[in-house]
Amino acid sequence: MDPRPTIVIGLLGSVLDSGFHQERWNKWRPTVSLCQHSNLPIARVELIYLKPHEHIARCVAADIERVSPRTQVRLTMQELKNPWDFEEVYGSLHDFARDYTFHPDDEDYLVHITTGTHVQQICLFLLTESRHFPARLVQTSPVEPKHRGPEGKYSIIDLDLSQYDRIAARFQREAKDAASLLKSGIETRNPQFNSLIEQIEHVAIYAKEPILLMGPTGVGKSQLARRIFELKKSRHQVGGAFVEVNCATLRGDAAMSALFGHVKGSFTGAYRDKPGKLEIADTGTVFLDEVGEMTLRMQGLLLRFLETGELQKVGTDRATGVVDVRVISATNRKLEDLITQGQFRDDLFYRLNVIHVSVPPLRERKLDIPLLVEAALKQFNRANGYVVRDLDPEAMQALIEYAWPGNVRELQNVIERLVVTGRSEIAKIDDLPPELRHQKVSLRPVKERRRTIADVLYKRVVQDRESFWTAVYPLYMNREITKANVRDLVGKGLEEARGNYKIVARLFNMEARDYKKFLNFLRKHECQVPFREYR
Ligand SMILES: Nc1ncnc2c1ncn2[C@@H]1O[C@H](COP(=O)(O)OP(=O)(O)O)[C@@H](O)[C@H]1O
Ligand SMILES: [Mg+2]
Repeated sequence: MDPRPTIVIGLLGSVLDSGFHQERWNKWRPTVSLCQHSNLPIARVELIYLKPHEHIARCVAADIERVSPRTQVRLTMQELKNPWDFEEVYGSLHDFARDYTFHPDDEDYLVHITTGTHVQQICLFLLTESRHFPARLVQTSPVEPKHRGPEGKYSIIDLDLSQYDRIAARFQREAKDAASLLKSGIETRNPQFNSLIEQIEHVAIYAKEPILLMGPTGVGKSQLARRIFELKKSRHQVGGAFVEVNCATLRGDAAMSALFGHVKGSFTGAYRDKPGKLEIADTGTVFLDEVGEMTLRMQGLLLRFLETGELQKVGTDRATGVVDVRVISATNRKLEDLITQGQFRDDLFYRLNVIHVSVPPLRERKLDIPLLVEAALKQFNRANGYVVRDLDPEAMQALIEYAWPGNVRELQNVIERLVVTGRSEIAKIDDLPPELRHQKVSLRPVKERRRTIADVLYKRVVQDRESFWTAVYPLYMNREITKANVRDLVGKGLEEARGNYKIVARLFNMEARDYKKFLNFLRKHECQVPFREYR
């Protein structure tokens, strides 16, 4: 037998683990139950809970100590705004794993993945698979109803063992396929955007809950919605069609009929029964674009539909059927503001916003610009007879520096115009529209161009307060930026810190104890910059 004590790391199940009265002892509660198996003595439970569930956490801790006095329970509170938000959940669990001192030689870790939201479970799986948690997984379940008792069953899954290689390999393959499908046609080099896409891909495959995409116009929300649908479809998660509804046009009398359908004779001109968009989307996905523009009346009707799935066609006085649709909605408005102004129902908002994705504007992912330009050049050059193949450095620089209020859509329009009107193979700054030309850009030598990448990175760590390890390190490891970029960045840091590497580490949002790791990284990759010049 393994002499190492067993440590369980898990999330509090706000529903499954709850129960305060005497009858809770008859109920299967995953976390408590796990500590009731005589063949699985548990030395310690690390229980992560959300602030509103503190009382449940305390009750569970006390109950564990009662059923298993030798088990110590340590509670960790996390503050999450939305336990369905992939970025937030992954970040918080990643932080937990990073800050936790594991002693794998002396302790045996099990990560309990039965409790928590679907998103939390997937994140625990991923972090265990990637060995951020050096653990095996443990799953618990109640036994059949007729032997119902509080203990339930458990099974341990070791992602390291060869018999599970197949499972892990399959999971990784699926994740990879999914990511490439979602990304096909989506050009991005931005690490956050990449991870956003990867997160959505997991959600897209597994979750049935409504997804709300927020972001300014032209950032790619509609495109993303369609990709999500295609992804679900390829995984047989949805069968039906992708039906797009532009909510801004849902006005007046025709609106209800467009969404819910009507029966023959319900109004002048209704010569036959007509299905609405929701019915057409049955078993598929409805995409509610510009959902912030919906009238209050339509919001009420939509809410009722979302709550029941029941369709009431125009011209009938009761529900005519039930449909099953996944909902993706998108808006470029701040729905929270509309709620304050009384223009959007908060109950509808909560219903639509179960999984929240905000798509960043193009000016916040400048590294994507050259790629998008390249893709757009290819796209528009397909039509023959055009000569423009590329842009000279000055023109490209102007594109990178421009603020792109219309985002990717505007960029595509600019490139299209350039291709259609350009007369030389390499377009120059004078070929660009005036708003891009008059930005006071000077022709910069290569060294300077390189520097703008360092500027973007610098802004990200210093102004946006991202950590070097998340904003820079992965880019470098994926070869998206060069040693020279990292050196330029470090140089900028040293300039600010007057040659003090410790201050640079702090400036780049690293923990004090990461200082050594930072220096080792720079040394190993020859990215060190002599500090003396900056003293
Ligand atoms: N990452 C991307 N890669 C390639 N094309 C993109 C990307 N994001 C958006 N687009 C394109 O930009 C245009 C605007 O995207 P769209 O999804 O309509 O934006 P939104 O719905 O947010 O207004 C579309 O032509 C879309 O194909
Ligand atoms: Mg759109």
